[in-house]
Amino acid sequence: MSPRTDAATGEDFGWEGEATGLARPVDASQLDTRHGDILYLDDITVSFDGFRALNKLTLDIAVGELRCIIGPNGAGKTTMMDVITGKTRPDAGTAFFGQTIDLTRLNEPTIAQIGIGRKFQKPTVFEAMTVAENLEIALKTDKSVWASLRARLSGQQRDRIDELLGLIRLGEQRQREAGLLSHGQKQWLEIGMLLAQEPKLLLLDEPVAGMTDAETEKTAELLLTLKGKHSLMVVEHDMAFVGAIAEKVTVLAEGSVLAEGSLAQVQADERVIEVYLGR
Ligand SMILES: Nc1ncnc2c1ncn2[C@@H]1O[C@H](COP(=O)(O)OP(=O)(O)OP(=O)(O)O)[C@@H](O)[C@H]1O
Ligand SMILES: [Mg+2]
Repeated sequence: MSPRTDAATGEDFGWEGEATGLARPVDASQLDTRHGDILYLDDITVSFDGFRALNKLTLDIAVGELRCIIGPNGAGKTTMMDVITGKTRPDAGTAFFGQTIDLTRLNEPTIAQIGIGRKFQKPTVFEAMTVAENLEIALKTDKSVWASLRARLSGQQRDRIDELLGLIRLGEQRQREAGLLSHGQKQWLEIGMLLAQEPKLLLLDEPVAGMTDAETEKTAELLLTLKGKHSLMVVEHDMAFVGAIAEKVTVLAEGSVLAEGSLAQVQADERVIEVYLGR
């Protein structure tokens, strides 16, 4: 299924050209997922000095799906996330958010605003602030850090912070300085900060790297509770973790989809075994 252009809103919405840097307003209300998918990558190619990091990559994600992406180092997994979030422009191909929003025409802040959250590998929380303050700032993104801390929280925002603290299992740490958390707890806090912005699609690049086994298990539980409410794309090398959360797994190799299916299916695929063994 390929996205179409909405005649009512016009085909050129959202991005008035990189020269001016002015983006016409695109907002999350324009997201059209009536066909069941939230993300459509079609024939995406990205070259770096002639080397194809992505090579005609085609991949769709369904609404509410938790998709795992695996593949050897250098397969293009992070580059794919760079394209989705507007950090890298593809040389060819299309990337649509829902049926109508062309991500290749939007800049990074706009893509974040319309509902695509991204978790990088290294946690980036405000270390000198408490866990609860970090979530507060994430809830009030329209203000500067200090203005947000001074502004009073509404009852609704307070409830939302409590809810997020429960979800990310940091209720007992709420008054702790974020810098004192374990690596895994910082990762959860950052996931909580992304959730505060209510992303429709959440991209997580190697979320359990560096975590203890117990932290990894809790992260698996957390992602399973997010599934359905959010669409998730999770890149991970930890196969035990992938096995714990995956329904459908996509294997990337040399910038394209090599195989797709359950983890057991792709692990039994000769071509997948070959790329992992490096021939
Ligand atoms: N900005 C860049 N300039 C030049 N080459 C790049 C750039 N970004 C990525 N590459 C190359 O593109 C290829 C794909 O890289 P990418 O980081 O997407 O792989 P990955 O699947 O995320 O790998 P890993 O599992 O190691 O994180 C690699 O060969 C990498 O060296
Ligand atoms: Mg990577």
